[in-house]
Amino acid sequence: MSDETRILAIETSCDETAAAVVENGRRVLAGIVASQASHHARYGGVFPEAASRMHIEAIYPVVSETLAQAHVGLEAVDAIAVTRGPGLAGSLVVGMAMAKGMALASGLPLIGVNHLEAHLYSIWLVEDEAEPAFPLLGLIVSGGHSELILMREHLTYERLGGTQDDAAGEAFDKVARLLGLGYPGGPAVQAAAETGDPQAFKFPRAWMEGSWDFSFSGLKTAVLREVRSQQPDLEAGVEAPRPGLPIADLAASFQAAVVDVLVSKTLSAAEAFDAKEVLVAGGVSANRALRESFRQRASLPVRVPPLSLCTDNAAMIGAVGHWRYLAGQRDALDMDVLPTWPLTG
Ligand code: KG4
Ligand code: ZN
Repeated sequence: MSDETRILAIETSCDETAAAVVENGRRVLAGIVASQASHHARYGGVFPEAASRMHIEAIYPVVSETLAQAHVGLEAVDAIAVTRGPGLAGSLVVGMAMAKGMALASGLPLIGVNHLEAHLYSIWLVEDEAEPAFPLLGLIVSGGHSELILMREHLTYERLGGTQDDAAGEAFDKVARLLGLGYPGGPAVQAAAETGDPQAFKFPRAWMEGSWDFSFSGLKTAVLREVRSQQPDLEAGVEAPRPGLPIADLAASFQAAVVDVLVSKTLSAAEAFDAKEVLVAGGVSANRALRESFRQRASLPVRVPPLSLCTDNAAMIGAVGHWRYLAGQRDALDMDVLPTWPLTG
């Protein structure tokens, strides 16, 4: 069997309806991401039933337009890869149903992919760089996850640790809401932090000594406590601009605390497990302070995907699809979604 593949990939795990055609796990022939973020922004977060309904409306046009842009028909595709989990059940089933329908109609193999492994494989889509060298230490930081993963070879994952409470992106989103900065919170906090002093407030770092786990809920509470001490009549849960608060300093100090813990623990784990490289992926890897801190502190190569591949997309699903196709994975048409699928094994 040749190592050359062309994979049609579909991703609907959260609030983006995405499709891509990926060649050899590295080249994106076409990729479309239809984001629902502006809709969810009105509610300060993803509203699962609305997400599911919007996926249903978007999935067919997104997939057909992707195939049109790639100038390939299904006869020129080797397999259909689809996100199986983790994610919102009602969102995952839409992409899964589309993938199954197309697999059934075309006779193409169906390949279920873990969304978290796909975030790591987004690095392989940076075509003009050499492929990452194993063993790799992966940090996946998104709205739902903060995972430290050791990869000794393709498609094998040792989960070293993860968050015990809030995910890193979730902490950004919650603090953004608290500071009245809107949704999604990560980019808003980053922008607000630009002019702030990261040393202004000494927010706690949860080092979780003796484990590779993270915890961000104490930090979030510390920010809340600081805000309340400055504005005692602040109503919990009310989202509004907060005149009078030192927003830039609060955002910068919060961001510095998250970045400090993520970078320190990732680099320690890389050393402990003799990793050759570090891969940072997931929505929070778009954060400029995080990228800059890795660049300054790391003594081994640290790769972060380009911004367009940090947040959810289907090209990364297609990158995994390539390796899983070559490894012989073929899933049955009655494959179910796995909303809480951990990345292990
Ligand atoms: O990977 P992703 O698109 O979706 C999930 O699988 O969760 O990650 C979304 C998360 C959100 O929490 C968002 O606030 C965060 O990534 N994020 C950022 C930045 N851009 C997105 N967090 C910090 N700084 C950013 N620049
Ligand atoms: Zn994601």
